[in-house]
Amino acid sequence: MAVIADRCPQIQVTVVDLNAARIAAWNDPDLSVLPVYEPGLDAVVGRARGRNLFFSTDVAGAIASADMVFISVNTPTKTRGVGAGQASDLRWIEVCTRQVAEAAQGHTIVVEKSTLPVRTAETVQAILAVAPAGKTFSVLSNPEFLAEGTAISDLESPDRVLIGGNDLESVDALAAIYGHWVPADRILRTNLWSSELSKLTANAFLAQRISSINSIAAVCEATGADVREVGKAIGTDSRIGSRFLKSGPGFGGSCFQKDILNLVYLCGHYGLKEVANYWQQVVELNSWQQQRIARLVVQKLFNTVSGKRIALLGFAFKADTNDTRESPAIRIAKELLEEGAQLAIHDPKVGSDQISQDLGQPPGSGEGQWLVALDPLEACRGADAVLILTEWASFRDLDWAVLAAVMRRPAWLFDARAIADAAAARAAGLQVWRVGEG
Ligand code: UDX
Repeated sequence: MAVIADRCPQIQVTVVDLNAARIAAWNDPDLSVLPVYEPGLDAVVGRARGRNLFFSTDVAGAIASADMVFISVNTPTKTRGVGAGQASDLRWIEVCTRQVAEAAQGHTIVVEKSTLPVRTAETVQAILAVAPAGKTFSVLSNPEFLAEGTAISDLESPDRVLIGGNDLESVDALAAIYGHWVPADRILRTNLWSSELSKLTANAFLAQRISSINSIAAVCEATGADVREVGKAIGTDSRIGSRFLKSGPGFGGSCFQKDILNLVYLCGHYGLKEVANYWQQVVELNSWQQQRIARLVVQKLFNTVSGKRIALLGFAFKADTNDTRESPAIRIAKELLEEGAQLAIHDPKVGSDQISQDLGQPPGSGEGQWLVALDPLEACRGADAVLILTEWASFRDLDWAVLAAVMRRPAWLFDARAIADAAAARAAGLQVWRVGEG
């Protein structure tokens, strides 16, 4: 929404939320404390806020005055009932749609921005259909393809914008907004169901590549091949392409796992058991990769990490974000804590409160406990091993002579992102494991 406001000064954009603390943070004069850390976002908000971008808790008022309403609420995976663990919980979509039906005036275009199970637009339409007389609605699907950390550039020059809808006039209205900065041939128009399904499919295909390359990483480690050489060799085949072939601790983030599980549920619903199992396996391989790394650490440290200090560098699910949702670091840290390790965790953008919530236990300095370290040096002090779990740029040029000097020998570097200078670490006396290197 901030990018739309930035690119279309003549359109008034109001972002509303029931959470007053969040809205207050978005209105904070200090742009460095915005709720979401995203490179370049502060500048975009700084330019548009107060001009044609507003943040407010007046949900009904904003809906009443809007020509177009984007629904961008969360759709967490259901934790109980039918489809628990796979299907999306659509309660916020329903609450929000009812609110739109109630508060809207005249004709309103309702845009599904949240990633939704296929045919949710039907539900939205059904709820809007019983709105008081005199109001009309048209429902569009406009899934978001941005990736965190590169969100602003993904939005400013998208590979494509997808608009699904059956009412051509409304589709044109939304296309005209993107048309302010996106070339016409990159704005794809589809029917509602294709648009909804395309989002799940794009994420499933991307995640599948990561699980595929991570499975090959294990084969590389066993055979003496190097997964980066293999990745490069196959990535230069233009039919395969070079992106999403980086082996690591597995995919995290708010989308991949959730969307694949959604797809699995959808397949199950239509009786496509084999298809459901096929995609389910992509998620299982991802968890396996994290388990494999945690077990390998224990095994290399003489099969016990009880009471041993281990430095964890990186907790976010990838670099350039403070987001930890489904971060591979969570599962790896939990396994090591379960084994009795003492973790010293350092991430440039993730703080103690978030880690507490993710690990389900407060900080402490005993066996099976974790604490936050302010920098990599503090994390490594007295540690038997250091694990790199997020590819933050600052971890690429760590001074291994300095870090190795404060660790307890024999000491290990486990580089799950293969970004550290392994030769320098070996020269400093560390034993080194890099993902996918035999
Ligand atoms: C993803 C999709 O890319 C985006 O289009 C969609 O709208 C939302 O989900 P995001 O979750 O922000 O975006 O991150 P992405 O950059 O896709 O990375 C997801 C995970 O895969 C991260 O944990 C990342 O570290 C991992 N990854 C990515 C790899 O392990 N290897 C790769 O080669 C690429």
